[in-house]
Amino acid sequence: MTVETRPSHLNPLLNRSARPMPRRIAVVGAGTIGPDIAYYLISSIPDLRLSLVDVVPEALDRATKRLAGYVEKGLAKKKLTEEQARGVRENVVPTLDYGDIADCDWVLEAATENIELKHRIFEQVEAIVSPKALITSNTSSLPASRVFAGLTHKGRATVTHFFAPAFRNPVVEIVHWADGDPETVEYLDWLFAATGKVPLITSDAICFMLDRIFDNWCNEAAYLLDEATAAEVDSTANEFVHAGPFFVLNLARGNPIIVETNTLQMEEGAHYRPAPILRSVDTWTTVGPGKRAPVAPETAARIRDRLLGILLSQSLDVLDRSIGLPSDLDLGCRLALGFKRGPLDLMRRLGDQEVRRILDRLVSERPGMPLPERPLESYQGFLRHVLVDDLDGVKVITLRRPDALNALNDEVTDEVLFVLREHEGDPNVVGFVIVGYGPRAFCAGADIGRFPEVLGDAEAAARYARDCSRLLVHLDAMTKPVVAALNGMALGGGLELAIRCHAIVAQRSAWLQFPEVTLGIAPGIGGMAVPYRRWPQAAETFHDMLRTARKLSAADAHDLGVVVGLAGSYEELMELAVERVRGLGEGAAPTPDGSVDIPPLEEIEAVAANGMPLSRETIGIITEAVQRCAGAPHLAEALDIGYRAFAKTACAEAAREGVAAFLEKRKPDFTKTG
Ligand code: COA
Repeated sequence: MTVETRPSHLNPLLNRSARPMPRRIAVVGAGTIGPDIAYYLISSIPDLRLSLVDVVPEALDRATKRLAGYVEKGLAKKKLTEEQARGVRENVVPTLDYGDIADCDWVLEAATENIELKHRIFEQVEAIVSPKALITSNTSSLPASRVFAGLTHKGRATVTHFFAPAFRNPVVEIVHWADGDPETVEYLDWLFAATGKVPLITSDAICFMLDRIFDNWCNEAAYLLDEATAAEVDSTANEFVHAGPFFVLNLARGNPIIVETNTLQMEEGAHYRPAPILRSVDTWTTVGPGKRAPVAPETAARIRDRLLGILLSQSLDVLDRSIGLPSDLDLGCRLALGFKRGPLDLMRRLGDQEVRRILDRLVSERPGMPLPERPLESYQGFLRHVLVDDLDGVKVITLRRPDALNALNDEVTDEVLFVLREHEGDPNVVGFVIVGYGPRAFCAGADIGRFPEVLGDAEAAARYARDCSRLLVHLDAMTKPVVAALNGMALGGGLELAIRCHAIVAQRSAWLQFPEVTLGIAPGIGGMAVPYRRWPQAAETFHDMLRTARKLSAADAHDLGVVVGLAGSYEELMELAVERVRGLGEGAAPTPDGSVDIPPLEEIEAVAANGMPLSRETIGIITEAVQRCAGAPHLAEALDIGYRAFAKTACAEAAREGVAAFLEKRKPDFTKTG
């Protein structure tokens, strides 16, 4: 696969498909991962009937019990609705009989990693299901060209590789292979994204993309046991991962898997040989996630170099062989494998000289391991958090930070700005749409993780707000139209981004909210100034939203004229957004410059719309700022008032409490802060 042979769009939800959501799926294999995949499918695809197939009755019994346990937990944690729970209980049908799967739209094989067994399964499956039914394998290492060699209708088949635990781990690799139809990949890409997963497309290499990293990372850890203990290796590795390789191998009972997959990789060279110790040890004595055992500095340095060496060597090899895209590699390593940073991000931080040193050391100790084929800096020129697609001359910019509900950080802001600047002068580009990745969020705001750095420092806080506004100020001056397409929640800084676009369209399920007051801060990057200037008719609603964090549904925003079009689905939303871009043409800047009359801001109880007590001081600062923003003769001055009001709240005790509470995942207690 190269970038050119990927599905037509990078944002999977732009890939329209003639196929509807499946109604009947069979998962073959009720062992370790099959029931977890089944649980994800049944709880995220409405009206689905799912057959769980195995040849061992006890495996089906165990799987049924496991699913019942998940339902109980899901209900208790409110992660599952009663309706979804009923779906799992009633619509998963355990069966020993392949005859039961004849009418399936999709058969997903999750049996043992044994190619003869898989061939037998697919022979049986293909004899029963329609030639149009999808057939996929959850193999983590065997290329699709081998797994599906015996199929008559190969186009409908591919690998869909899940990561443990499959119902929670968002990543699924989809393999683009020689005999598979591109439509099959495109459909699955759409389906996974529409159901909340993060699909990553890879080529048909042995172990695909992410397990090339993971398996060699673990294998290298095992080789290091000649000079260090498992606890020392994990302890050192914990600088880079949430759980060390031996801890994960224990959890997954993974030693035999590494032996098997690295043996397979030996087709590419003897340097992939599995470490012999993996064959003789069952469980490792090691430290848990985040834990450190004492390690002598020179031992730690040696472990660090080798682990980093293998990580970088494998990552660069993935890119040199076009096995996957760089942004997918970084995202996948973080989301699927638990790395704290993606390998390319790490590489950038280490610097070329250090990377070169580490790689030179690796090949001197582990000859044969791949080295980069290009200058190191050439691996860095890619967009990390936004996807850019073209819909008939309209550039669609998709915010993709699925692990933070597409929240904005400096890098996201700069990337959006870069894309706008790159294309706004191009006469072939009609305009832009900004949308969020996945079905849940347009954007959950500014990255709250950054806030603690500026709390208590008025100068730093005001500078931060001004810096965050660089994209928004650019939008103010743009004449080429930019439309915000709200595919889900638009919160705080995300809403502040949307209101600076020339128009907003939204899915009916979307909602708008300024939750800042619940964090003890003011919406400082335009939220207190722009809405009143653009939609003075909705001023009372904005008063309420800013001071009580009341949510505004897309439909209500439409009634108020804030949202100019409503759509039922993501697909409709994009049609509407593109249509709107075309309708707007090049024209006036989105936000009027002059002052605006607003209704008085009555004194209110310090209580949020959801009943949560709020900080009186924060509400006071917001109230004053809103009034002053409205009276400011020019937008720039109004924005400045907003930055300074943000800084003022950032220096109050309430902000410390509110931000800390969010990061500690608890409710804030503003009664002690005022
Ligand atoms: N900044 C950074 N991370 C954010 C974020 C933000 N603005 N909004 C959500 N996230 C992260 C969460 O920390 C969580 O990460 P984790 O899985 O590593 O813990 C992840 O996104 C998913 O969010 P979570 O809170 O688990 O989802 P939920 O469905 O329980 O709640 C929200 C959804 C939107 C109600 C909740 O995430 C929220 O209140 N976010 C903050 C919104 C906000 O105040 N924005 C204004 C900032 S200017």
